[in-house]
Amino acid sequence: MAILGLDSDVRSIVIFRLIRYFFIMLLLDSSDQNLRAAGSAIAQGKIVAIPTETVYGLGADAFNAQAVARIFAAKNRPTFDPLIVHVASASALDTVVRLVPPKARILVEALWPGPLTLVMPKREVIPDIVTAGLDTVGVRCPSHPVARKIIEYSGTAVAAPSANPFGYISPTTAMHVAKQLGDRVDMIIDGGPCTVGVESTVIDMTHEIPIVLRPGGMPLERIEELIGELAFPEKELKVFASPGQLKSHYAPHADLLLFEEGALARIDPASVPAHAAALAFDAPMAERLRESACFDMIYVLSPKGNMLEAAANLFAVMRTADEAGFSTLYAERVPDAGLGRAINDRLYRASKKS
Ligand code: TXA
Ligand code: MG
Repeated sequence: MAILGLDSDVRSIVIFRLIRYFFIMLLLDSSDQNLRAAGSAIAQGKIVAIPTETVYGLGADAFNAQAVARIFAAKNRPTFDPLIVHVASASALDTVVRLVPPKARILVEALWPGPLTLVMPKREVIPDIVTAGLDTVGVRCPSHPVARKIIEYSGTAVAAPSANPFGYISPTTAMHVAKQLGDRVDMIIDGGPCTVGVESTVIDMTHEIPIVLRPGGMPLERIEELIGELAFPEKELKVFASPGQLKSHYAPHADLLLFEEGALARIDPASVPAHAAALAFDAPMAERLRESACFDMIYVLSPKGNMLEAAANLFAVMRTADEAGFSTLYAERVPDAGLGRAINDRLYRASKKS
């Protein structure tokens, strides 16, 4: 190939551009024609990556067990982890669930469409593979107009987990999906970067006092205002109170070390390994970390300290740090309210446990 005659720097730039071009070719814009094509692909049993306001999802017909099985295969996801079923509007809820508890009805009316998944008793027709054999199903109506159009055009309900390989960070752009699952999906619709940026809040509505299964894009405070008390399953959050005493374990990507709020300002530079980067919540924190001179790079989640912006940027920033090849990523918890809870939860899940 002619490209072999180029000097190595030029050659890597050309190869990089070709790869990038290849990924962009995989993406389809959100024209009505493409959304109709995506809808009929789902109706025919194919798997399609779709944008939602939270993260990109990998969708299949929720009533077609074989199509749903392809999602698990594409993601390498264990089948004991149930999927969320997405509906185009609340009126389709009855096709999926057997019973809508009164508190769930209140939430549906006030907060749908939006980043809120409600777990309710499932209808018999929902295949076991969707719910991992449970007799409940998580349902959500996304607020992203592209997602809703695709579901509407598919004429069915769409089972969709986040469109990432199992265990990795959820995608918040179509390009993230193309890079990691491009060769495993039938179609990717580009609906722009996700505005919420963390996955939906998941609430189990089958108990008198509903249970928070995952904090997410819908603040728990808004839910409590509408239906009162929520219960939390027992979960121990262990983070590093101070640097040091880190047990090493295998991780394919950067180790994320999560600290209590304010702890990074007091970090001992001698404890920070080479090739380390840090996540700063806002510009003042980034400035303090720069002064400490401990890190090769500081990534800022929201220069002005806006929690919504920080959530929207979180996953993309973690990917950028990973792609830049940092071996360790330092982060600290943000104030634990509103979307801050979802951010802390995702940081904790991504982190190396002490
Ligand atoms: O924002 C979101 O929720 C994104 C977009 C694509 O909608 N989806 C998403 O899906 O994050 P996934 O599969 O990555 O996470 C679904 C979560 C899992 O933690 C799963 O265990 C829980 O929802 N879940 C689903 N159905 C459930 C059920 N019947 N009972 C308990 N948990 C359930
Ligand atoms: Mg996921």
